[in-house]
Amino acid sequence: MFYKTQHPDIQLRSYTAQDADALTTLANNRNIWQNLRDQFPHPYHRENAVQFIKMCLETEPQTVLGIAYQGQLVGSIGLHLQNDVYRFSAELGYFIGEPYWNKSITTFAVQTMLQYGFEKLHLQRIFASVFEHNEGSKRVLLKNGFLLEGVKKKAIYKNNQFLDEFLYGIVREKEL
Ligand SMILES: CC(C)(COP(=O)(O)OP(=O)(O)OC[C@H]1O[C@@H](n2cnc3c(N)ncnc32)[C@H](O)[C@@H]1OP(=O)(O)O)[C@@H](O)C(=O)NCCC(=O)NCCS
Repeated sequence: MFYKTQHPDIQLRSYTAQDADALTTLANNRNIWQNLRDQFPHPYHRENAVQFIKMCLETEPQTVLGIAYQGQLVGSIGLHLQNDVYRFSAELGYFIGEPYWNKSITTFAVQTMLQYGFEKLHLQRIFASVFEHNEGSKRVLLKNGFLLEGVKKKAIYKNNQFLDEFLYGIVREKEL
């Protein structure tokens, strides 16, 4: 899969096995880990990247893609499809390698992922959960039209601290 974004230097694309080294370098960073759930490994080893890429490629439809900037893999973005009565919803997640922060890369990547989720996957709702201190991620979501739907006080225990969880959501404009 390959998707252009509104920015000529930024694309979303399927992973390949050759991305394992680059993904390991990007992901092996405590400043990324501290904003993500504990299931995201730290330290992040090459074997973690190999397993992750395999899982992304085996999942049908593909909902986790690499983010390319000027031809280089710089991050990851995915939709986690829900089930049962939530089956028209998906949770959005993403990270960008620290050297590439604050270049609007995630903003453009999220915009394209929303189109993919609503138009191709026929989702009705996309949501994201943000740790309280993560102002950059909150900004990315607000810039893409997400609304703050609520704050779950002290819902998160990360790195020996209780944190509030900020819940953001967006629904598709046209009804099914
Ligand atoms: C959060 C993250 C994905 C943002 O990616 P990014 O590509 O740097 O995001 P963008 O450049 O598109 O947008 C970031 C916005 O936040 C703003 N921002 C960044 N740090 C900020 C801060 N401390 N306070 C307020 N605004 C901040 C930037 O100025 C920018 O807004 P602007 O375009 O209006 O100036 C990236 O920092 C990251 O990967 N962090 C670690 C993993 C993570 O947090 N994942 C998301 C979990 S919910």
